[in-house]
Amino acid sequence: MTKQTTFTPSKQQQQLFDWVKNGTGSCILESVAGSGKTTTLLHAMEYMKGKIFYGAFNKRVCDELKEKVDVGVNVNISTMHSAGLSALKKQSRFAKVEMYKVNNIFRKLFERSDPVYKYQQQVVQLVSLAKSYGFGIFKEIEDEKNWLDLIIKHEVRCSNNPFNEDTKNIIKAAIECFDESNECSDDFIDFDDMIYLPLLKNIKPFQYDWVLIDEAQDSNAIRRELALRMLKPGGRMICVGDSNQAIYGFSGADSDSMQLFQDELQGTELSLTVSYRCPVDVVTYSQQWVPHINSHPTAIKGSVLDIPTHNMLQRLRISDVVLCHRNAPLLKTAYSLLINGTPARVEGREIGTTITNMANRFKAVKSFVDFINKITTATNKDIQDLRNEGKVTTADQLEDTLSCLLSIVDKIRNDGADSNHIGEAISKEVDKLFGDDVGDDVVKLTTIYKAKGREWPCVFWIKHKIDQHNYEDVRKLSYVAATRAKSELYVVID
Ligand SMILES: Nc1ncnc2c1ncn2[C@@H]1O[C@H](COP(=O)(O)OP(=O)(O)OP(=O)(O)O)[C@@H](O)[C@H]1O
Ligand SMILES: [Mg+2]
Repeated sequence: MTKQTTFTPSKQQQQLFDWVKNGTGSCILESVAGSGKTTTLLHAMEYMKGKIFYGAFNKRVCDELKEKVDVGVNVNISTMHSAGLSALKKQSRFAKVEMYKVNNIFRKLFERSDPVYKYQQQVVQLVSLAKSYGFGIFKEIEDEKNWLDLIIKHEVRCSNNPFNEDTKNIIKAAIECFDESNECSDDFIDFDDMIYLPLLKNIKPFQYDWVLIDEAQDSNAIRRELALRMLKPGGRMICVGDSNQAIYGFSGADSDSMQLFQDELQGTELSLTVSYRCPVDVVTYSQQWVPHINSHPTAIKGSVLDIPTHNMLQRLRISDVVLCHRNAPLLKTAYSLLINGTPARVEGREIGTTITNMANRFKAVKSFVDFINKITTATNKDIQDLRNEGKVTTADQLEDTLSCLLSIVDKIRNDGADSNHIGEAISKEVDKLFGDDVGDDVVKLTTIYKAKGREWPCVFWIKHKIDQHNYEDVRKLSYVAATRAKSELYVVID
């Protein structure tokens, strides 16, 4: 039994439970938003025999699920990273986790005078992507074409032209860093290594009778491979996901991940098409992106309302959430709330780090006017170069970070910060605004990416000029945003 007692399964949920009890092999459960995927997996465990592994998308979800599952169930609820790390520790017991491992390797290998030195960020990004694609396992490390594919697909900030001298140097440096990263892996590991290295080193992960993968639509090559290697011979797997919520392509996840799992497993295909979470009006509204989502017969009517920004500021209450696919509109909203005395925080410490890194480029500048001019000119040039190369998503992201940074500089300048220490003042402000564990005592502002799998009674979605260049991304992001609402959805047009 799970700790939740008032659960009456739907026909579709019952079908899965029957398959667990009486079926064989594995299963792909393709389902709509809020249809109880996570809840169904939790209850399905009651019918499973042997050891169970539940692969959750992030640590926050793990913690929430551990609260809900009964102590009697023999389950390990974990992220794939933590599962990989446990396997790795069997062989590399003393390896130290070093988040900036590849940055350190880069600085060890290349001098400041080296022409590639200014491309550290690009090299580090490429090495990280190469690990998630399983270079050295599924793809040749030495083959430059594989690296160029990454540059183009992930819009890495360098030329797409393989004959461009800088691009050649970047690829060469990435291969060197990649090799060195693997070489020193008994001593140092980073986040990507946790899943990648047990596969590369052929370390057998802990074995389970059941492997359950939630949010399977956002898996990459190495996550899928680790999950498959965790199955005991004759073990069974359930992959649960919603292909229409596959929004992590930018980080190396495959948008057809559910299908790729199915190609491996040849499993029974089941589905959940009724949303328990969303009220009738939210479901009807979301059908413009996913026509087959339906509401439950007992669902409340709820509401969907278009409102302007100033109206959002009047309506927002502490328990509400504000969503947007970009950070700058979230930050501006946070500032407006704080000025009015409403506590507010943006989720994601790493967003703050990206902003601080951008600021660090001109940390020696000792005048606000100069700082703003320099950072704006340099970044706008990068943005223009990216647009010329057709790398529109990366250009938009850079524009977003610049916009955040300028809002912060504006604020600290108005607060009278010392222009001799602009960098420090920015860092301090960033720490105040961004956090990982944003409590329930503030208005929470978060990106749609971070909101995946979660729900709130009242959701404000800032539909900030959502990029028009990729309809598929817009469709999926809009669908994820709208379906977070359990009761009221406000679509904020700014
Ligand atoms: N049979 C059921 N009866 C009543 N409520 C249910 C049932 N199944 C799920 N729910 C409720 O529906 C809501 C959504 O469930 P859950 O978060 O498991 O959906 P999900 O499909 O995992 O969502 P997402 O697509 O966002 O990951 C939760 O509040 C859950 O308690
Ligand atoms: Mg879920």
